Amino acid sequence: MKRGIEVTVNGTLHKLSIEPRETLLEIIRNRLDLTGSKLGCDQQVCGTCTVLLDSLPVSSCSVLGVDAHGCEVLTIEGLATDGELHVIQQAFIEQGAFQCAFCTPGMILAVKALKDQIPNPSEEQIRHFLAGNLCRCGCHMEILEVARSLL
Ligand code: FES
Ligand code: FES
Repeated sequence: MKRGIEVTVNGTLHKLSIEPRETLLEIIRNRLDLTGSKLGCDQQVCGTCTVLLDSLPVSSCSVLGVDAHGCEVLTIEGLATDGELHVIQQAFIEQGAFQCAFCTPGMILAVKALKDQIPNPSEEQIRHFLAGNLCRCGCHMEILEVARSLL
């Protein structure tokens, strides 16, 4: 039986009727047409589906939509403002911290959460915080450099 939820995504409130088994990632991609968040492993391992749920990074492939009821979600599409890229997006571009970019939306949101939550993080804290986001193209050193440059 379908369930009604209310979830705010990128500042817009959505009232949805969803299946209990639907994941937050499915809702974001299939119902709201926000396709920046990617499905990789579907097992809470790779981080390509990372979004911020009430400001905390989560693997949206492993969060049920019903559990997002009443929450605020930020996806990569909500990061730029008035056509201006967020400083983290700009840094990824300027420092070439990607190849195929499949991991990049999740990486950027993970860096944002780190930046928001831990002022002046240590190298160990940066690596620990980003450990849940994998880059199959092997851009981890460049991504770490972006994170260090912004924190
Ligand atoms: S697709 Fe969600 S963690 Fe890999
Ligand atoms: S840039 Fe290709 S997976 Fe990270």
